[in-house]
Amino acid sequence: MYRPDLFGSIEKIDSARIKNPFIPHLAKIEKIERLSEDTRMYTVKFKDKNVEKGFSYLPGQFVMVTHFGIGEVAISLCSSPTKRKVQLTIRKVGTVTEKIHELEEGAVVGIRGPYGNGFPMDKIKGKDVLVVGGGIGLAPLRGAIDYILDNKKEYGKITVFLGCREPAAILFSKDIERWKKKIEFLISVDKACEGWKGYVGVVTTLFDKVEIDGKNGCAIVCGPPVMYRFVGNELIKRNFAKEDIYYSLERRMKCGLGKCGHCLIAHKFTCVDGPVFTHFDAETLEGFF
Ligand SMILES: Cc1cc2nc3c(=O)[nH]c(=O)nc-3n(C[C@H](O)[C@H](O)[C@H](O)COP(=O)(O)OP(=O)(O)OC[C@H]3O[C@@H](n4cnc5c(N)ncnc54)[C@H](O)[C@@H]3O)c2cc1C
Ligand code: FES
Repeated sequence: MYRPDLFGSIEKIDSARIKNPFIPHLAKIEKIERLSEDTRMYTVKFKDKNVEKGFSYLPGQFVMVTHFGIGEVAISLCSSPTKRKVQLTIRKVGTVTEKIHELEEGAVVGIRGPYGNGFPMDKIKGKDVLVVGGGIGLAPLRGAIDYILDNKKEYGKITVFLGCREPAAILFSKDIERWKKKIEFLISVDKACEGWKGYVGVVTTLFDKVEIDGKNGCAIVCGPPVMYRFVGNELIKRNFAKEDIYYSLERRMKCGLGKCGHCLIAHKFTCVDGPVFTHFDAETLEGFF
């Protein structure tokens, strides 16, 4: 809940933000959609019309979301900027995310950002794009997929591989139905249940199901860190250049501004140098793979 006793009037917040980048913009939760047992998607709207109008970002960037009086968490922007709608997908895992899940439509949260580099949507123009997602890693990739589909003429062929623990953990079912009509979209689950007719096995098993050649391609990947080494090996076997493989990395974050050092990986700040790193860069960062 918005705490005027802590933050004063909205006007005061606006003038203070100019001096203090840690002060978030106020945003109203317009819509909450249940995506799975522990994951929801939030459509938010900034209270300040100018902020709403001027909020621009790249797929793969993230924001810091404040539950006032509880804390802040880093969350990827999961909608494409082409949709003119700010959406965030949040999994309930601990203190702050649990409290965010208790909020209802109409509640106000704080949002600062966008932060990080995001996926290089300009640089990959003209290339075939292979998207590889694991579990909630599909959230930042969702924005990239829609961005490419909304600018279809500027990109080559797009293929998506999605790996999930089990069928019930598959997020964005409505989007997947929509995407399947336009692009090759393969899903594999670690553990099938009765009635599952799709592939079974870790996400890398999907590489044998369709012909993929990375010569004129790039790959964008997001999922649990353990996935990256195995996916990277498959991509390199299929002629993807190390500079054309992009991983989105999650580290614990506090400031999001390159100041606190919480997100350091080797000498890089994940919040400002990342969260997207090429395979080429990742190889030089101890602890990445
Ligand atoms: C760039 C970036 C983008 C992210 N995008 C999303 C997103 O779109 N949706 C989403 O649900 N989450 C996302 N996360 C993860 C999210 O920030 C954490 O889940 C959140 O901070 C947990 O806060 P908490 O207070 O609820 O949990 P805590 O009580 O702090 O921790 C609960 C558990 O989660 C683990 N944890 C906490 N932070 C992280 C983290 N950053 N990475 C991995 N494990 C963590 C802890 O080790 C602990 O086991 C992102 C993180 C980063 C860095
Ligand atoms: S989160 Fe503080 S330096 Fe990156």
